[in-house]
Amino acid sequence: MNDIFVTRRIPQAGLDLLQSSGVPFRVGETQDQHTLSRDRLLEEAGQAKVILSLVTDQLDRAVLEAGPGLRGVAQFAVGYDNIDISAATALGIPVSNTPGVLTEATADFAWALLMAVARQVPQAHAYTVGGHFRTWGPNLFLGTDVGPGPDGRRKVLGILGFGRIGAAVARRAAGFDMVVLAHTPGSRERIEASPGVAWAEFSELLERSDFLSLNVPLRPETHHIMDAEAFRRMKPSAFLVNTARGPVVDEAALVHALESGQIAGAALDVYEKEPEIHQGLLALPNVVLAPHIGSGSRDTRQRMAKLAAQGAIHHFRGEAAPHTVNPTVYQAGSWRARVQDGG
Ligand code: NAP
Ligand code: GLV
Repeated sequence: MNDIFVTRRIPQAGLDLLQSSGVPFRVGETQDQHTLSRDRLLEEAGQAKVILSLVTDQLDRAVLEAGPGLRGVAQFAVGYDNIDISAATALGIPVSNTPGVLTEATADFAWALLMAVARQVPQAHAYTVGGHFRTWGPNLFLGTDVGPGPDGRRKVLGILGFGRIGAAVARRAAGFDMVVLAHTPGSRERIEASPGVAWAEFSELLERSDFLSLNVPLRPETHHIMDAEAFRRMKPSAFLVNTARGPVVDEAALVHALESGQIAGAALDVYEKEPEIHQGLLALPNVVLAPHIGSGSRDTRQRMAKLAAQGAIHHFRGEAAPHTVNPTVYQAGSWRARVQDGG
């Protein structure tokens, strides 16, 4: 087909951009709740010049190898752990993503989750719409202070992964007069230069945080970074907020930590085996669970769609795309061969 294959329907701004650019494109799955089957992905990858992918598409080596004419992948997300980047690089396939435009929306959502779990907002909502609110009660849905409580103690917000989103989560903490600690290996100077943020070793971050926000990318070194040992180090009054990727948390260990009171609660947007959710989490009263909607504001999703479409158009035209995560491919003969052979 030699076109841009958009695996699933993306917001209209992206489709409009593809349309007005005059590039040939097709959308695979047009129904919102449906993912694209692996067979279809393999088949389409064999024929497309560019794949515009979503986090639900597993672009492993087999998919990337399926098409000799594949000259680029444009990911509709900042995270790209669903794509085998070393295989793409070896094959001469550039991969672009959508960083930056979703930073603020995702940080907002981390805070929405933090507040929701601290003050039991979903539980209180269910109680109210369920018709149980018969009288005001001094013991009804007692939560945890996020700002300084009556004793004046400033709460500690820990950020694991002080990148774009982690820093944006930290900025919002100023309004709650929090102490902000952050950890990213190799970034101590950058963290210490950020107003209102102090560096902490990982162990200190675990031990001191009242609220711990995960903002790391999923990589081999962050897989299960939150394991049983990490939960043992946390305070029994602490809350975990995960808007990063599910597999950075050992979900079975998290369930144990929540059940046994090692930590007070968790608010999750992402899951280890998405969309599957550990049965233990579903049964717990001290969790807030969302269906991976961190970047999901209307305006942000339109911007992401435009940025992904721009990347796809550059790939299609055989040009270096902005936000390419493996830019060394542009120096590789294998990329040039793909672009030249495809005409
Ligand atoms: P980013 O700017 O690259 O920030 C990630 C930060 O984590 C970087 O500073 C990175 O440091 C740091 N890091 C890497 N390994 C670490 C480790 N072992 N311990 C502590 N820090 C570590 O990326 P971003 O734009 O903020 O996005 C972060 C992630 O959020 C994405 O990868 C994605 O998975 C997730 N996300 C989720 C949603 C959602 O809908 N829930 C939306 C957007 C993004 P280096 O740069 O030194 O490696
Ligand atoms: C969403 O999960 C993203 O990585 O953009």
